[in-house]
Amino acid sequence: MDIKFSRCHPITLCLILAVVGMVLGLEDGSKQPLIGAPGAPVGLSESDPELLKAVKFAEQRYNTASNGMHIRRVSKIISANKQLVKGVRYSIMVEIGSTQCKKSAVLGVFDDCEFFLETNKLKTEVCLFEVWDIPWEGKSTLLKQKCQPAVPKETKKVVSVPLYKSKPALESVELLTQFKDFMVKYNRTYSSQEEAEKRLRIFQENMKTAQTLQSLEQGSAEYGITKFSDLTEDEFRMMYLNPLISQWSLQKPMKPASPSRNPAPDSWDWREHGAVSPVKNQGMCGSCWAFSVTGNIEGQWFRKTGKLLSLSEQELVDCDRLDQACGGGLPSNAYEAIENLGGLETETDYSYTGHKQNCDFSSGKVAAYINSSVELPKDENEIAAWLAENGPVSAALNAFAMQFYRKGVSHPLKIFCNPWMIDHAVLLVGYGERNGVPFWAIKNSWGEDYGEQGYYYLYRGSRLCGINKMCSSAVVN
Ligand SMILES: *[C@@H]1O[C@H](CO)[C@@H](O)[C@H](O)[C@H]1NC(C)=O
Ligand SMILES: *[C@@H]1O[C@H](CO)[C@@H](O)[C@H](O)[C@H]1NC(C)=O
Repeated sequence: MDIKFSRCHPITLCLILAVVGMVLGLEDGSKQPLIGAPGAPVGLSESDPELLKAVKFAEQRYNTASNGMHIRRVSKIISANKQLVKGVRYSIMVEIGSTQCKKSAVLGVFDDCEFFLETNKLKTEVCLFEVWDIPWEGKSTLLKQKCQPAVPKETKKVVSVPLYKSKPALESVELLTQFKDFMVKYNRTYSSQEEAEKRLRIFQENMKTAQTLQSLEQGSAEYGITKFSDLTEDEFRMMYLNPLISQWSLQKPMKPASPSRNPAPDSWDWREHGAVSPVKNQGMCGSCWAFSVTGNIEGQWFRKTGKLLSLSEQELVDCDRLDQACGGGLPSNAYEAIENLGGLETETDYSYTGHKQNCDFSSGKVAAYINSSVELPKDENEIAAWLAENGPVSAALNAFAMQFYRKGVSHPLKIFCNPWMIDHAVLLVGYGERNGVPFWAIKNSWGEDYGEQGYYYLYRGSRLCGINKMCSSAVVN
C-alpha cells in the first residue's frame, strides 16, 4: 500500500481557522445555520448551558461503558470548543474522578454524588470527549472518548521538545528494528526523512497502546504490529472506519426477524458450508458497511440457490444515495437501496475501486436480488441460533482494539471498547469456543493480511464492543 499524507490535517486547519477567526473578531458560530460546510471550532465558556448538557451526556455514556464500581463524575472542565458539522460537535477536555456513590445504588441522575477526598480513591483521569448533537433530531452521540490517568502535580515535567522533532538517536535499537521489519513486511515507503521520523514516533505510540491492551487482555488475543501500526488513531478512524454508524440510533426501525426454531448449536461456521466468499479489502475508504451487506447477501443467496457469488460493493459505493460512499453508511439503508435498484451485480461485472464514481449499474446484470430486510434480537444466544439457521449476519462494533489485533480471541476491557461508539461494520460467519473461550468468528474487509487470514475473533457472551447492537440480514424470498 502506498500511503501519502500530503494533505494538511483537518484539525490543524480548523485550529488555524479558529485562530484567524478570533483575531479578526468574527461572529460567534452559534448564529450560523446548522447545515452546510463545517465551521471553525469556537471556544466555549465553562458555564455554557449547551456545553454542560453535552458534558452530562458524555458522563452518562462514560459510566455506562466503564467496569468501575463507583459512579465517576466530571470534576473540572479543562477546555471546550464546538464546531458546526451537521449539528454541533463539542470537543471537551475534562478531569473526571470517582464519587462515593456505588453504581448499583444510583439510577439516572447522579448530580448529588460526592467525590472521594483521597487521591488514591479519586483516581483522577483526564478525558477528551467528542459529543455530536443533532438538535433537530433531539439526538446526541459520543464520537470519541479518550482517557488517561492524570499526571500527579509533583512529577509533572515540562516537555519542551516537540513530539515529532526529537532525534532518532534516542531510539532503542529494538524499536528501530521493529519499525524496519514493519516497513519491509507492509511495503511502506515515506516521502521524506521527516515523514519517516513522524511515522516512527506514531509507531512507537501504537506499540505502547498495543502493550497496554495486551497487559489488560482478558481473552487469548495477541496485540502488536499490524499493517495499521504507522497510523494515528484519528487517521485510522478517518481512513478505515465508519463515523456514520455511530448514528445507528437514527436508523429507521427495521422489521424484527422471526425467531429461530431451534436453540443455537454449540458451534457453527458458515465457511465450512460454502456460504462465505474470500476476504476482500475495502482499501482507504470507509465502505465497511457495503462489505458487511454484500457478505450477508452472498450468504442469503447461497442459502436460496446453492450458489456462492461474490457481489459488488462498488455498486453500493456509487449508486446507494441513502449512504455516503467512502464517508460511511448504514446496512439498513443499503438493503433499502438494493431493493430500489433491483439487486446487486457481481464483483466481476462491477469491480471495486475504493472511491466513489458515477453510478454504472445496469439492471440487466443483476446477479442477486433481495426482497426485504430484518433486524435481529440483541441477545447473543438468539443471534447465534438465528445465524446457524439462516446464514452469516451483518453486524457492527466498536473497532478500537482491531487496529492492534494480530490473532487469538480478543477480549479487551470494556473501557477500550465502548458499546455506544460503534464505528465498523463486519460479518458474523460463525461462533464456537477456543480452549474454553467463547468467540464470534468475524469476517473483516481489511484484506487477508489482517488478523487471522482476514478474520477477527471476538469474545462472545458479554455484548462486547456492542457486537449485539446492530445485527441484521437481507431476506430473499
Ligand atoms: C510496494 O509499493 C510500491 C510503490 O509504493 C509498488 O510499486 C510495489 O508494487 C509494492 N510491492 C508490493 C509487493 O506490494
Ligand atoms: C422478490 O424480489 C424479486 C426481485 O425484485 C421479485 O422478482 C420477486 O417476485 C420477489 N418475491 C416475492 C415473493 O415478492
